[in-house]
Amino acid sequence: MNIVLLGAPGAGKGTQAQLLIKEYGIPHISTGDILRAAVKNETPLGLKAKSFMDAGELVPDDLIIDLMRERLAQEDALKGFILDGFPRTTTQAAALDTVLSEDGRRIDCALAIEVPDEDIIKRLSSRRVCRVCGYTGSAADAVCPQCGGEMYQRDDDKTETIANRLAVYQRSTAPLINYYSGAGVLVEIDGNRAVDEVYSDVKAAVERD
Ligand code: AP5
Repeated sequence: MNIVLLGAPGAGKGTQAQLLIKEYGIPHISTGDILRAAVKNETPLGLKAKSFMDAGELVPDDLIIDLMRERLAQEDALKGFILDGFPRTTTQAAALDTVLSEDGRRIDCALAIEVPDEDIIKRLSSRRVCRVCGYTGSAADAVCPQCGGEMYQRDDDKTETIANRLAVYQRSTAPLINYYSGAGVLVEIDGNRAVDEVYSDVKAAVERD
């Protein structure tokens, strides 16, 4: 099962991915998480990516495509994967198809999770993430309800950066809706409902064939 999660920043891709992992046991591959770890560890990739991420801009395609070519060749991804935050441009989508076709794989399902901009802004401004275990919660969580760790606000969840991320999404990533519709694998999902209601449609979509 090879799944792509599409949707604006804050649409709930990571949240739905966590539920899919529990149910299907396939790896969740989030380019945002990989890049944030690289920034934290000051790796060569992290040093190149940081300024783009802080500004809410996309990291250049060549860096991302090289990173994902390596990640998708790893053993755990051969039985299936959930891609979250990749591809984000039509160049990345075409490169992904090429990489997968080299060993007879393809994308089975692209889920576009749709949420109005005003709700996205509210979600992202109040999102807080645990420094220790990565749990995603809200400003109401003084400490992590899972492990007691410190909750922090991502640099790119500051109000001024959210607006740019939404503009970048419309310009560079929204065209992928047509790309995957043309490939016959797109399912559009109303993401502006309770998490379990959204997941019920997500599960139905990935199991439809
Ligand atoms: P990335 O980490 O991928 O960020 P994003 O796409 O902006 O997505 P988010 O993680 O912000 O949101 P999400 O959709 O996962 O929502 P979540 O489930 O957390 O990318 C960050 C940066 O890295 C990019 O800006 C770019 O610079 C770079 N980058 C990454 N990939 C790249 C690529 N391929 N090419 C180039 N550059 C790349 O939910 C959000 C909030 O809403 C949470 O608080 C959650 O609890 C809440 N929530 C979720 N679902 C619901 C619901 N149904 N109802 C109410 N609240 C909900």
